[in-house]
Amino acid sequence: MVRRPEPLTPPAERFTSPLHDERVAAWLGMALGLSFGTAFATGLFSHFMQHPPDWMYWPSRPVNLYRVTQGLHVIGGLATIPLLLAKLWTVYPKLLQWPPVRSVGHAIERALILLLVGASLFQLATGLFNIAYWYPFPFFFPTAHYWTAYILMGALVIHVANEWAKVRRTVMTRPEDTIGRRRFLLTVAAAGGAVTVTTVGETFTPLADLAVLAPRRPGVGPQALPVNKTAQAAGIARVGPSWRLQVQGPVDLTFSLQDLHTRFPAHTARLPIACVEGWSASGTWEGVRLRDILRTAGAPEDARVRIESMERGGLYRTSWVDPPHWHDPLTLLALRLNGSPLDLDHGHPCRLIAPNRPGVQQTKWVHRLVIT
Ligand code: HEM
Repeated sequence: MVRRPEPLTPPAERFTSPLHDERVAAWLGMALGLSFGTAFATGLFSHFMQHPPDWMYWPSRPVNLYRVTQGLHVIGGLATIPLLLAKLWTVYPKLLQWPPVRSVGHAIERALILLLVGASLFQLATGLFNIAYWYPFPFFFPTAHYWTAYILMGALVIHVANEWAKVRRTVMTRPEDTIGRRRFLLTVAAAGGAVTVTTVGETFTPLADLAVLAPRRPGVGPQALPVNKTAQAAGIARVGPSWRLQVQGPVDLTFSLQDLHTRFPAHTARLPIACVEGWSASGTWEGVRLRDILRTAGAPEDARVRIESMERGGLYRTSWVDPPHWHDPLTLLALRLNGSPLDLDHGHPCRLIAPNRPGVQQTKWVHRLVIT
């Protein structure tokens, strides 16, 4: 007897677990919306702080603003990895639905879903590689990460609009059987919590001992402060007594290290180095106020100042300091850190340290200030 073939079961209907249903997808979706929304806002904040358009005004206070926003961006991004994996596991039967495309509208919807999934995975993976200092890709990470963020947010807004009815249904109604779902969601939340607890100490010093997954930890490094770019990596050899600080402005000036110590009042500021990679750590900096030097050189109050490092090249060889930052009494040209002269890796003999500013803009090995 010839056996007739079984009718093809549409793959999506083979998955009967409540963990693959719209409620779990909606709860995980809401959490993802919150975390990707936060990452987008804090990522833009960081981007515009490093590449400020002319109309942008950055206050120098609160002192720890950048530290908090960038910590949220990186640590929140890491904690999103288990969330995203759980969401994709929950909805993957939908991705196998048959027929894969039913109409032109459906084809567009599916293409947008693919874009959303691809962009989400790309952002989390490249962000993770970046903080691990591993660049297995041929493109420049910040540019790719920045533009993909817009694609992701566009696709996410359309996705939420498409799924909004299901989200509302989920929030408004209580299902009969919730135990399995609740356990699953709690497990995902615990995984996100575990990632947070083992990384947040890279910026929240009281939990530093628990930060086993963090690439940098407060307190670990020369003078008890982490270093990203060492003097060797920057091509800086030991700086001798011939070092001079040049100031170019209405009045051109030159100072030796001794001049800085004797001609300007000494000040102390407790400020963090807050890295774009999410770690941050506070130090006690001693030095002279940038505003004292600039005013001595006749800088107008609305001047912008270019701080130049002795580094030969590199993206962060110079940085700009705008009036809110150089007027701030906490902004120093630091000569000492945590009780001793600056280590060469921290920018000896002189570095910039200012409140609410990304670490890459706290220029090290300073040798020239140009008032514009
Ligand atoms: C970057 C974040 C997100 C990714 C990667 C993602 C991914 C997906 C995917 C692949 C599907 C299956 C689509 C299909 O073929 O039907 C889906 C469904 C769904 N998503 Fe998202 N999503 C994200 C964020 C969100 C957000 C923010 C919400 C709501 C606030 C949400 C709510 C839903 C809902 C309700 C479903 C329908 C589940 C069902 O019909 O069973 N998602 N999501």
